[in-house]
Amino acid sequence: MKTEKIILISSLILIAVLLAEAYRENINNEWQPFQKLYKKELKKKAIDKKEQKLADNYEIKMRQIVVPELNRVDRCVICHVGIEDPRMVNVPQPIKVHPGDILGDHELEKVGCTVCHDGQGRAVTKKEAHGVSVAFWEKPLMYPPFLESNCVRCHNVESLPELTLVKKGKDLFLRNGCLGCHELRGKGGNLAPELTNISDANIHLKHPVSEELLDRFHHNANIAYIYESVKQPGAQPEITAMPDFNFSEEEILALTVFLKGLSKKEVPISYLAEIQEGKQPETVHGEPLYRKYCVACHGTDAKGGVKNINYIKRTVPELNILAERMFLDEPENANKVSELLKNGVDITKMSPKLDVPKRGRVLAQYRAIRNVIKRGSPAGKADPEGPEPLLHMPSWAKGLSDKDIDSIIAYLLTLYPWEQEETSE
Ligand code: HEC
Ligand code: HEC
Ligand code: HEC
Ligand code: HEC
Ligand code: HEC
Repeated sequence: MKTEKIILISSLILIAVLLAEAYRENINNEWQPFQKLYKKELKKKAIDKKEQKLADNYEIKMRQIVVPELNRVDRCVICHVGIEDPRMVNVPQPIKVHPGDILGDHELEKVGCTVCHDGQGRAVTKKEAHGVSVAFWEKPLMYPPFLESNCVRCHNVESLPELTLVKKGKDLFLRNGCLGCHELRGKGGNLAPELTNISDANIHLKHPVSEELLDRFHHNANIAYIYESVKQPGAQPEITAMPDFNFSEEEILALTVFLKGLSKKEVPISYLAEIQEGKQPETVHGEPLYRKYCVACHGTDAKGGVKNINYIKRTVPELNILAERMFLDEPENANKVSELLKNGVDITKMSPKLDVPKRGRVLAQYRAIRNVIKRGSPAGKADPEGPEPLLHMPSWAKGLSDKDIDSIIAYLLTLYPWEQEETSE
């Protein structure tokens, strides 16, 4: 008698467990009602027997897009069932067809959804899949205009006209000397955190971001952090070398969209829309290099004036006076040397020899300046007891070639304010 009872009870428990599991899997899930709704819409929209039959046979089941090349399993389509069905226009989300033509340009089976949208591909509840209300979720769903940031994983900024913000942000990044302190893909300074993978997860979160910003950016902590870092360098540790650039709101947003596109997680070459930049040879011009690497410390047009706490000279030296430093007293001579350097001529070894007055001193100064750029130079303290100056001259031996350095010097030589000299005399 007793064993019968045990068997009965354990069978009942087993049945209960199985029922609960079946309930969880099939009835109490978020996605099933959406698939049922879609099935209803299919029936409503069927225009002939064949479509009617297809609608009747439509199965309510698990759906997913598996993309091993991108290491993704995207179950978004478990709810977004009508995403490729052009008939699904006047229906509610999530069963609507995808807007625009973009799925015509990208084969869904090959890319999935998260490569453009982020979100948690494997999740089957909206809360987890969108990751939006889950605090500090690694990759929450992205909202416009941040979708742009993901397009540049496979596209060049220049080749898609719709990528307006990334393009603007990249221009700002390259023109304001961010690379003077930050490193990006092996190039740039060493005074500040590397930005190559700033968009990968929240590893960069060094301080909590405000609730207000989190709300504004749909609880994407990574975006909020990048935005705050650019807008208000003081939001970071109180004394920071990072200057306040006084960017406009639109410029901050553009920079944030650009930075949000920087990732170490590269897609396979077969997924790239075009040959990526950086894999093509770059032409060397002094002015853009100066703006890329030097302008944040040495100032616009190399006029100096950038404050440096407790530094002997108070502000970072101006570089528009290099002509004078190199004993090039006449505009013709400065232009001559500038042209030679621009064209890649080694002025120390050329033959016939460099033809300018005081050649020996000119060449010695040129070597000295080149050496400062290559080796760097720590900024001396004004008050020996005071704090360390925040801005030091970094070493560019690794980041810039000799040709790059010569082209920057060539550019700097053109900046000497000759006219002003004459009028003041
Ligand atoms: C469990 C169902 C479910 C899953 C899974 C799901 N979504 Fe959604 N999604 C919805 C619903 C419902 C809406 C309608 C808007 C709402 O209720 O927030 C929606 C809306 C959206 C929107 C419009 C923006 C918005 O917030 O209204 C986007 C974009 C989106 N989903 C993308 C995705 C992506 C990408 C995935 C996969 C990572 C995904 N969804 C997975 C249910 C889901
Ligand atoms: C190649 C990039 C790309 C892929 C892949 C992609 N989307 Fe989109 N998606 C976009 C862009 C860009 C928009 C905004 C388009 C617009 O507004 O015209 C968008 C818009 C949407 C919207 C409407 C958002 C709104 O606010 O109304 C939903 C929903 C959506 N996508 C879901 C998905 C789902 C689900 C998948 C995968 C099945 C997917 N997308 C795949 C780029 C993509
Ligand atoms: C996973 C890589 C990948 C992502 C992410 C991606 N694309 Fe593409 N895209 C491609 C490839 C590959 C092509 C096909 C190029 C071809 O046919 O030559 C393409 C084609 C296109 C085209 C057709 C015109 C053309 O240049 O061939 C447009 C427009 C486009 N993509 C826009 C976007 C936008 C906007 C986004 C971001 C929302 C985006 N793509 C994200 C890989 C991607
Ligand atoms: C003079 C040096 C300097 C320049 C130029 C500079 N930064 Fe910074 N930046 C820093 C320092 C130092 C930090 C680290 C903040 C801290 O911890 O004090 C930082 C932090 C950041 C961060 C947060 C990074 C992280 O991992 O926490 C971002 C994003 C950033 N800077 C963007 C920019 C952009 C965009 C520009 C150009 C417009 C720029 N920076 C120019 C010095 C600089
Ligand atoms: C992080 C700030 C910073 C960046 C970026 C930077 N410099 Fe400097 N640079 C300095 C400081 C500070 C000094 C002064 C050092 C000293 O007092 O010895 C200096 C000194 C120099 C000097 C010597 C000037 C003189 O009057 O003796 C030259 C030349 C120079 N930098 C060139 C460059 C070039 C070229 C670049 C870009 C490739 C560059 N710097 C980027 C901070 C910077």
